[in-house]
Amino acid sequence: MTKIRVGLVFGGKSGEHEVSIRSAKSIYEALDKNKYDVVLIGIDKAGKWLLAETVRFKALAENPKRPALPYASRTDEILPFTKSNSTHLISPYTGQNFQTIDVFFPIVHGTYGEDGSLQGLFELLDTAYVGAGVLGSGIGMDKDVMKRLLQQNKIPVGKCKVLKKYEVKDNILNDVIRNLKLPLFVKPANLGSSVGVSKVNNREELQKAVHQAFQYDTKVLIEKYIRGREVECSVLGNDSPIASLPGEIIPRHEFYSYEAKYLDENGAELIIPAQIDKKTTKKIQSMAIKVFRTLECSGMARVDFFLTADNKVIVNEINTLPGFTRISMYPKLWDASGIPYTQLLDTLINLAIEKKKDRDLLIREYK
Ligand SMILES: Nc1ncnc2c1ncn2[C@@H]1O[C@H](COP(=O)(O)OP(=O)(O)O)[C@@H](O)[C@H]1O
Ligand SMILES: [Mg+2]
Repeated sequence: MTKIRVGLVFGGKSGEHEVSIRSAKSIYEALDKNKYDVVLIGIDKAGKWLLAETVRFKALAENPKRPALPYASRTDEILPFTKSNSTHLISPYTGQNFQTIDVFFPIVHGTYGEDGSLQGLFELLDTAYVGAGVLGSGIGMDKDVMKRLLQQNKIPVGKCKVLKKYEVKDNILNDVIRNLKLPLFVKPANLGSSVGVSKVNNREELQKAVHQAFQYDTKVLIEKYIRGREVECSVLGNDSPIASLPGEIIPRHEFYSYEAKYLDENGAELIIPAQIDKKTTKKIQSMAIKVFRTLECSGMARVDFFLTADNKVIVNEINTLPGFTRISMYPKLWDASGIPYTQLLDTLINLAIEKKKDRDLLIREYK
């Protein structure tokens, strides 16, 4: 049997560079080497691609606190390039052909990885890739567009006011406070890992938080505060997606902030599966699938909810390239639902190849 050549792409220009390296390390170790030849492709913090040969990658990812890729040098810098139906990694300097790739497995979280841009590159290369396509990735990244689509499909989301930079005028924040009531959550529309997210308790804090969020994005959401448990559900599939058992996050900080997620080891507790009654579990699962379909996703996504004291399920957001270390919620929920880590990777790769085959059948020109 010829092995499938998987290009595992990680790192990237976003604030989730370090997390991505940890996810990639777990994936690399778990991929069945009898089935796959794994090619490690790192994206450094400047956005350059490099061939991250095994030994160095391992040492680097074992660096406990904040592993980061070295900057690409002339010798290990690569460019993906497609020629006669096959995708190669070549040196931009010498043209040397390093590897060929059958399917990309991007595990680059956040901007330039999860937002459709990397997926656009894979489309242009005409190569199979794991996860959502350009549209699903873009929608999933934009919390404003995401909410509008969910609302249109009668899926409950929290109330919010979306602000573009030019709309910030004197009275608008007062109007928001009057309509949505304090406390409020402020967040950049297109980011992740709680970067730029603040909880505010008064007018002054709101103004500061809005100013801060605009440093990260040109569009900002001010959301009504939702008091509830934070429950997450993993979805897997293309045309017939399935949902895992839900899990619960109990943040030990005021909310599930960047510190709680990555810096403080005891920042949050993951309860898998969540202690939720059967009926609510079913409701969360079917809603997660509906969200996945509504937002044009494929492959995988983690859908995050608030569960209120009166059992209302409200969608917070979707993550199309969720954290993927062995202790991350997405794979752990599948493990608890009967799909162990390595099998999950096989399924994702198969889904990527299937999706590419379906798209290859499409007619691209006028006949
Ligand atoms: N409207 C809200 N009400 C209560 N808590 C919120 C609200 N929005 C966000 N949070 C808290 O902030 C965290 C990060 O917000 P989220 O929208 O998930 O952004 P990110 O995409 O950065 O993860 C959530 O996990 C939750 O703890
Ligand atoms: Mg979140």
